[in-house]
Amino acid sequence: MRIGILTGGGDCPGLNAVIRAVVRKGIGEHGDEIVGFRDGWRGVLESDTVTMDLAAVRGILPRGGTVLGTSRTNPYALDGGPERAMENLRTLGIDALVPIGGEDTLGVATKLAESGMRVVGVPKTIDNDLDGTDYTFGFDTAVGVAMEAIDRLHTTGDSHHRTLVVEVMGRHAGWIALHAGMAGGANVILIPEKPFDVDAVVKHCQHRFASGYSPILVVSEGAKPKDGDLMLSTGERDAFGHVRLGGIGAALASLIEERTGREARAVVLGHIQRGGTPSPFDRVLATRFGLAAVDAVHDGQSGVMVALRGTDIVRVPLSAATAELKLVPPERYSEAEVFFG
Ligand code: F6P
Repeated sequence: MRIGILTGGGDCPGLNAVIRAVVRKGIGEHGDEIVGFRDGWRGVLESDTVTMDLAAVRGILPRGGTVLGTSRTNPYALDGGPERAMENLRTLGIDALVPIGGEDTLGVATKLAESGMRVVGVPKTIDNDLDGTDYTFGFDTAVGVAMEAIDRLHTTGDSHHRTLVVEVMGRHAGWIALHAGMAGGANVILIPEKPFDVDAVVKHCQHRFASGYSPILVVSEGAKPKDGDLMLSTGERDAFGHVRLGGIGAALASLIEERTGREARAVVLGHIQRGGTPSPFDRVLATRFGLAAVDAVHDGQSGVMVALRGTDIVRVPLSAATAELKLVPPERYSEAEVFFG
């Protein structure tokens, strides 16, 4: 078979592990030809391909980023985009496509599958917000990076008797903030799913100062106050219409400084959470997803996504995985609240 593979959306630790697994299993067990598309859907729209043979994947397992490159190109936002994508895939003789991506990339994949392309998706995102899978690869690495930062910030914050606000990624889901904050012993965790009360946040900070330590707050980039809107540093949007988040950390730090009368600083972790080598968990999960995607293709499946349920890799309909975001449920947030203040 001729299997196309692409990586779309924000890069994510573990992408290369999936690519390697698809190539190793596809070629090694089935004699497939693997065609890589450069920069996500852009490569499909422009027939920009690279042959992915065994040599192309040697040594890439521990590497961050993606050897195929990525973009946020959306064929459905372009005139004649979907038709061109389908035509190019046909001309290149692609029998099946394995897109590795989050809600946007897999949203496009869902529609192409409905148009007749054989598609098996692989869920990736540091945000862990894809429905249908317990975890996406990349999330564990991002949480590890954020936790280490929080550990380091505890000691410098305490030494200077100042509040530190750590802004983490996650878009409209608070998974990274919740897990990194819990693992790092944050005094307050703020997530998009639960608009926060500024007075309560200030009280937690004062309580922490009163105990002789300095507060560490973890705030998700999409968190917003109860009686306000998103605090953004830019108004830019990408090809899928997502607004660029960021700015809540700085806004919150100046509010806390004003209300507590003590210095407060914001630390934005940004792309550090996405770059670099994947954790062992993500390497294994990404590898298992890649292997399972090849199995699904050879079983004649289409319109499905490989997913983690407990410790098993299963197949779920792509449409179900991309219909709604997987958000932090209130009971998970309540667990973290026990440690606030
Ligand atoms: O979806 C992954 C993610 O890192 C989000 O957490 C973040 O909001 C977004 O991508 C940032 O995108 P970019 O760095 O491509 O602008």
